[in-house]
Amino acid sequence: MKFFIDSANISEIKKAQELGVLAGVTTNPSLVAKEGADFHDRLREITEFVSESVSAEVISLDAEGMVREGKELAAIAPNITVKVPMTVEGLKAVRTFSEAGIKTNVTLVFSANQALLAARAGASYVSPFIGRLDDIGQNGLEVITTIAEIFDLHGIDTEIIAASIRHPQHVTESALRGAHIATLPWKVIEQITKHPLTDIGIEKFLSDWQKAQTSV
Ligand code: E4P
Repeated sequence: MKFFIDSANISEIKKAQELGVLAGVTTNPSLVAKEGADFHDRLREITEFVSESVSAEVISLDAEGMVREGKELAAIAPNITVKVPMTVEGLKAVRTFSEAGIKTNVTLVFSANQALLAARAGASYVSPFIGRLDDIGQNGLEVITTIAEIFDLHGIDTEIIAASIRHPQHVTESALRGAHIATLPWKVIEQITKHPLTDIGIEKFLSDWQKAQTSV
């Protein structure tokens, strides 16, 4: 499983990139609004230093508007992936993008049937939202397992992005259940670098080292 960062914050994206494991970026209208930046300018800034997939979401609700917006977004940089909501209009737009050779990420996926439809419409990625399913009392991770099984069974090469990740267990489980990618907020990226025993281990090694130096 590869790692994307789910952020529109330049400093967070740079910190994630410095770790050497970053395979892409996802943004959404809420994340961009939080930054208070112009959407297109922010995407230009991100694609100046990220050469892998950068998902940018359309806000139109009709296919025609989505296609118009998506083409403008895709013109910003060759690595822009157009993020389209999982609706009937969204599926029509995905088919058009796919025929035009523009990569798409179908977002707001909450069921295996939605993922299968998106894949058949030509989506490059589907993004099932684990955390938001958990929030309403369903098991978001089970959707990842089902989608991965169906895609495998039918030889579908659309990649599964585990999204709406809230904690480290979501990351491990997404990997185990066959997600190709997990898109993580910076907070979760930081969390999964750490373990209390690592810190205790470092302290012990250093104090033993220092004791040995003073006794020489
Ligand atoms: C993914 O592409 C979405 O931007 C994101 O994971 C949504 O997460 P949230 O449910 O924490 O807003």
